[in-house]
Amino acid sequence: MKRVLITGAAGFLGSHLCDRFLKEGYFVIGMDNLITGDLKNIEHLFKEKNFEFYHHDVSKFVFVPGQLDYILHFASPASPIDYLKIPIQTLKVGSLGTHNLLGLARVKNARILVASTSEVYGDPLVHPQHEDYWGHVNPIGPRGVYDEAKRFQEAITMAYHTFHGVETRIVRIFNTYGPRMRLNDGRVLPAFIGQALRGEDLTIFGDGSQTRSAMWTIWSKAFIVYYSATITSRSTSETPTRSQSATSPKRSSALPEPIRR
Ligand SMILES: NC(=O)c1ccc[n+]([C@@H]2O[C@H](COP(=O)([O-])OP(=O)(O)OC[C@H]3O[C@@H](n4cnc5c(N)ncnc54)[C@H](O)[C@@H]3O)[C@@H](O)[C@H]2O)c1
Repeated sequence: MKRVLITGAAGFLGSHLCDRFLKEGYFVIGMDNLITGDLKNIEHLFKEKNFEFYHHDVSKFVFVPGQLDYILHFASPASPIDYLKIPIQTLKVGSLGTHNLLGLARVKNARILVASTSEVYGDPLVHPQHEDYWGHVNPIGPRGVYDEAKRFQEAITMAYHTFHGVETRIVRIFNTYGPRMRLNDGRVLPAFIGQALRGEDLTIFGDGSQTRSAMWTIWSKAFIVYYSATITSRSTSETPTRSQSATSPKRSSALPEPIRR
């Protein structure tokens, strides 16, 4: 049975991915420090024999015993309200957290997919954004903590791919919405839905010329499952693939026993 580690498992997207990978017949290891997530999103999974959960901060050393085939790194505050409240943790999970998980992927010979974002384009000057557009980001602006954490995340992921030959995937997610999103999480679609449910006018900030691409969560997770588990390689002249060398972990698990309910 294939084993997948999903970080950010108690969050909006991570919890849907746990559901989906269990349904697809994987053994799912969820990890989350619950800083913006909620155990309620995954409490229905604790009875599953193919699910275990670690309450752990991935910005600290991460190790999971046993075989690991895939890592989906979804841990990160994602709403502007959250990442402006916890800017240092946001930078740490994108940088140190991603570094830890890439190291784990390397020792386990696992493929890793990291959740990046359309915010890597910053305040884009090009619409719609294509992958060959590099963005327009202010590193010292208020959103810099999130945007630059994700840009560093992409850079270190590419470095592990080119230097260590780790099998990596980067998915730049645009606004996804759906069940388990918090109505007060600050993103535009739940904000609109919350106001509509309360019978209030919808608030549009600025001059109304801003654009968003929105995706219903079921499609987003279907793409992520397909992208992480199905596509076997993707190399371009800029991203040469080297043969992978896995080494044994030098440290034993520093984590507590997984929580099962
Ligand atoms: N939802 C979207 O539209 C969207 C768009 C672009 C990118 N993303 C990315 O997808 C991922 C998930 O987003 P989401 O909308 O589900 O957000 P979310 O806040 O609902 O979930 C994030 C989860 O990560 C956990 N987490 C944060 N820091 C952690 C740490 N240091 N260690 C362990 N767990 C930690 C939180 O507790 C939470 O459960 C994020 O990486 C985000 O940047 C989401």
